[in-house]
This record gives sequence, structure tokens and C-alpha cells, in this order.
Amino acid sequence: MRRNNSLINIPEIFDDCNLYFAQTKQHIPFSIKRIYYIIQSNVKLPRGFHAHKKTKQMLFCIQGKIKIILDDGKTRESIILDKPNQGLLIDKMIWHEMHEFKKNTILLVLASQKFNPADYIRDYEKFKNKIS
Ligand code: TYD
Repeated sequence: MRRNNSLINIPEIFDDCNLYFAQTKQHIPFSIKRIYYIIQSNVKLPRGFHAHKKTKQMLFCIQGKIKIILDDGKTRESIILDKPNQGLLIDKMIWHEMHEFKKNTILLVLASQKFNPADYIRDYEKFKNKIS
């Protein structure tokens, strides 16, 4: 139903530690141009509330738990991210929100484009108009 948004399982290696890895093509369907991560998020403040014109992203909740809302302009979907071996692919032109950050959550994001403020659509009505 949704354009290329999906949960992707990545390999986990249990040794004297837990090790996870993801690589382009096999697990990540774009070349990574940027990474960023969010730590010490205010548990009461949701984040996101935008779509990207070009950027595709893969989100890993490597510690803790968050609820992600995805919206393609027609349907809304809620996904819990709380497993370090799961990446959530968010396609371009998908409105996304991050809610209910659990304390000490670490969210790692891989992005297909460098940071560009012009790539953001932060107004929901503009987003809806663009996709219709
Ligand atoms: P934003 O993407 O709105 O955060 P979130 O999706 O978590 O709500 O970014 C917050 C601020 O950080 C905003 O001023 C833009 C800046 N920022 C960068 O400068 N570079 C980046 O790679 C990112 C992701 C954000």
C-alpha cells in the first residue's frame, strides 16, 4: 500500500557483544550521503512533522523505543521501532512524525541526500497538495 516504506531486518551477530550491520543494496536501497542521530530527546516532545522532496531515509532505533507515524497523504500508519536489528525505510514524499520517545532512546538515521533545508515540506497542507 505505502510507497516503499518497510521494515527491513538486518543481520545480528551474537558474540561477546551484539553486533549489527547493514550494507548498501542488500539492506539499504540507496547510497548513504549523510548520517545523523538523535539522543537525549525530550520524551514529551514529538519530532519530525515533515516530508522530504528527495531524501529517503532509514531509521534504526538502536536503543529504546519510539513510535513513528507515516502518512502518504491518503493513509496513516503507526510503527513501533524498538529492535536494533530493524531498519525502517521512509521513502521521499512521506509525511513522518516521531512520538513517544522512551527515555535514553538512540535513533540512528541514514539518509540518501545531504542536508538541504529546501528538501523539507513542513506544512501538511502543502504536502497534501503536492501529492494530489
Ligand atoms: P529536523 O530534521 O527538523 O529534526 P526532526 O526530524 O528530528 O524533528 O532538524 C532539526 C534541526 O537540525 C533543524 O534546524 C535542521 C537541523 N539539521 C541539520 O542541520 N542537519 C541535519 O542533517 C539534520 C537532520 C537536521
